[in-house]
Amino acid sequence: MAPKNVKIEFEGKTIELPVTEGSEQEKAFDIGTLRAKTGLVTYDNGFANTSSCQSKITFLDGEKGILRYRGYPIEELSEKKSFLEVAYLLLNGELPQSHEYKSFEKEIWSNMKLPSNMEALLKSFDKNTHPMAALSAAVVSMSGNFANLTNPEDKAQSEEAMLKTLGLLPVVAAAQYRLSKGEKVIPPKAEYSYCENFLWMMRGEKPTPSEVKALDLLLILHADHEQNCSTSTVRLVGSSAANLFASLSAGICALWGPLHGGANQAVIEMLEEIHKNGGDIPKYVAMAKDKTSTFRLMGFGHRVYKNFDPRASIIKVACDRVLKEMGVSNPLLGIAKKLEEAALGDSYFKEKKLYPNVDFYSGIIYSALKIPVEMFTVMFAIGRLPGWMSHWKELNEEGAKIGRPRQVYTGYTERHIEGQDEKKSFKKAA
Ligand code: CMC
Repeated sequence: MAPKNVKIEFEGKTIELPVTEGSEQEKAFDIGTLRAKTGLVTYDNGFANTSSCQSKITFLDGEKGILRYRGYPIEELSEKKSFLEVAYLLLNGELPQSHEYKSFEKEIWSNMKLPSNMEALLKSFDKNTHPMAALSAAVVSMSGNFANLTNPEDKAQSEEAMLKTLGLLPVVAAAQYRLSKGEKVIPPKAEYSYCENFLWMMRGEKPTPSEVKALDLLLILHADHEQNCSTSTVRLVGSSAANLFASLSAGICALWGPLHGGANQAVIEMLEEIHKNGGDIPKYVAMAKDKTSTFRLMGFGHRVYKNFDPRASIIKVACDRVLKEMGVSNPLLGIAKKLEEAALGDSYFKEKKLYPNVDFYSGIIYSALKIPVEMFTVMFAIGRLPGWMSHWKELNEEGAKIGRPRQVYTGYTERHIEGQDEKKSFKKAA
């Protein structure tokens, strides 16, 4: 039997801390009383080895390349279920029965109406505003439009706020895109599915079934990924009892960074640059290994996957199929494949266990769907929304403590102001 405690010896004193075990036999020891018993805090740069919560939503094993939502393997969900079914699963813990699905879909549809002041807000942004900035601002502004849904302690309000956001996010994203091009907003159609509507609202033409299927797949693959940077942000903001819209808006900003969701845009920009410069793959592989260069192979490497990213494997296969079905050819796919082959055969990438991640091939499918590159991270946000919300819901239902890490202070020790200078005033002397 596994030991129930971990023993820590420090300065001649031994203390015991309890071991807790997850449903997949992952063990963690609880350091909640460590400081009180020893005066020590733990130091874990980037939370690389720290569980910030207990969660029932998503399991992933980075060594084995396993990803499951509520117990279901990502491979099965992406093959057999739609994005909205997966969203329901994440939010409610079970896949929907057909009557449950119908009313869920109906509720979401009823929330796909862009309030006029939100349209005005989107119109007001400078033309250089990145769509992720506009999305984050629009989502936090929902706390004004739906001020009656901002009490996280009220379960009914929270449920409604989640359905509202699920309905509105694709509407906001498509509207922002069109307005930024000086075009009119296209309203959704009742007879279209969620993904069909998004492509319709972006482009104003009915998408083909294979385009809809491709988008559905990408959104499912992005739907949750346990305690990643943006989800942890949503949880941290939510832990202060902030409302759903505020917590999600913060998550959108965290996702924007190129080391996280922004990598999908960065990958296409990198592949375009390689293409423009004659496809010299060895040069870029060498640059990625060169510690004097800031260049990294975007779409490569992952904090937890140290074997392969199962989402990347699914997308790679889908890439070939989708491009063939759509009759699209993209020279960047050839470059991506050669780059992957070169990196996987290189000892630097092998030793550091760096593999293509979800963002490596996703941009090629988004491009085939005629989604502009600056919108790629917005697509990730639409996909990740159910994950963020299910974590926010779990956090609130469990009454989690406010998130407040410690630090190891390395600044000056106490010092004092020297001399007799008078206190400076911002006011000009009379
Ligand atoms: N190209 C070249 N070297 C790399 C790369 C890369 N893409 N990724 C990691 N390394 C090296 C890194 O320089 C370091 O080397 P050393 O040990 O000699 O200092 C070592 O590998 C470990 O990297 P790290 O940055 O300490 O690892 P991390 O777990 O802190 O970061 C990561 C993970 C995803 C931020 C990083 O691999 C990276 O920057 N990748 C490129 C950006 C990217 O594709 N991000 C999307 C992640 S998947 C989508 C999501 O869920 O967010």
